[in-house]
Amino acid sequence: MVYGAPFVTGLGAMLQIAAVVAAAGRGERTGGGVPKQYRPVAGRPLLSWTLHGLGALDGVGPVQVVCDPVHHDRYSASVEGFDPLPPVAGGATRQASVLRGLEALAAHEPDYVMVHDAARPFVAPDLVGRLRVALDGGAEGVIPVLPVTDTVKRCRDKVIAETLDRRGLALAQTPQAFRYANLLLAHRACAGREFTDDAAVAEAAGMTVATVAGDAGNMKVTTADDLVEAERRLEAREIRVGTGFDAHAFAKGDRVTLCGVRIPHGRTLAGDTDADVGLHALVDAMLGAMGEGDLGAHFPVGDPAWKGRPSSDLVAVAVGLMKARRARLVNADITLICQRPRLAPHRPAMKARVAALLGVDPARVNIKATSTDGLGFAGRGEGVAGQAAVTLAMPATVS
Ligand code: CTP
Ligand code: MG
Repeated sequence: MVYGAPFVTGLGAMLQIAAVVAAAGRGERTGGGVPKQYRPVAGRPLLSWTLHGLGALDGVGPVQVVCDPVHHDRYSASVEGFDPLPPVAGGATRQASVLRGLEALAAHEPDYVMVHDAARPFVAPDLVGRLRVALDGGAEGVIPVLPVTDTVKRCRDKVIAETLDRRGLALAQTPQAFRYANLLLAHRACAGREFTDDAAVAEAAGMTVATVAGDAGNMKVTTADDLVEAERRLEAREIRVGTGFDAHAFAKGDRVTLCGVRIPHGRTLAGDTDADVGLHALVDAMLGAMGEGDLGAHFPVGDPAWKGRPSSDLVAVAVGLMKARRARLVNADITLICQRPRLAPHRPAMKARVAALLGVDPARVNIKATSTDGLGFAGRGEGVAGQAAVTLAMPATVS
């Protein structure tokens, strides 16, 4: 995943927001030996989910992670598939860690920077959009806040000393976004004085920090229960269905390729690729389930890059799109429609081949073949048609 891909609006290029990800803490309140940012959640280290979330944001980059070099191997496993800047070593406090991250970004001269906790894996584009609007509107700094809904007490020795007026109180989240140069100066000026977030550093340095609505879903993992909740949310799935259809005409030749299997035949199927209508229908169904348009959009007709390529390459691209979306194939059902050749003997090989291309158990793949009783182009022996239905399990929160 490449951060900071140029994002051009109708009005011109957006200003880039660099990111500092604070990941050098010990996660003592979570317990469990391994710091929380490296704990596996829904199959990946928590930090990896946070980087994934940042990668889904337009105009964010470069990303600078601050970590403890002691955890070098865990760090490397967490950033696999992402392209953050080389990590910098954190300090004894979050504030010291962030300062090191900010210093490391100096050579990139970003306009804006947002500081984000590795422990918040659910950063959403809407929230970052609100921060950007505030900065573009002239704010020196801006943070997301949530209203305090519970009554707030100050306690001493397990006894209430005071009930605070919650009006005007707010809970601060990350990412917190600032004009880069201003925040760097503020952090340098405050080095040695202890603050728990960047807004406090900015305030101490005399900056005015604006607020925008936070996102209740943007939870911070602090306790072991939070890890369980993050796991539940990252695992939550919805089922999506896609369908596909394709047909190709017969031409002079001696074999056809259907569902990735070569079948000797007195004719071949005409087309730019191997004209595998089974795999083409399958890929269209996969794209359909993901809301990703159709074959033509991804593999334009006449594009030399695709000419002569086996259709298995198209499946590989669709599988790549699924991976990027964390989609899992539940099942694929393909129907091939032709009078000739006879396909029943080839069904087991097709099933095995399609399952291998999709990287799933063959039990999730079904191949059917039918003639049309002599009706239509297939019945007249003019070509072969394929249709497919695919169900995918995808993350429930599609952004
Ligand atoms: N952090 C950091 N450097 C530190 C301390 C904290 O980069 N010296 C990071 C943490 O990794 C975390 C974020 O700052 O992503 C917010 O801090 P917190 O939630 O307090 O995490 P920890 O300090 O790791 O946890 P704990 O306080 O429970 O030990
Ligand atoms: Mg801490």
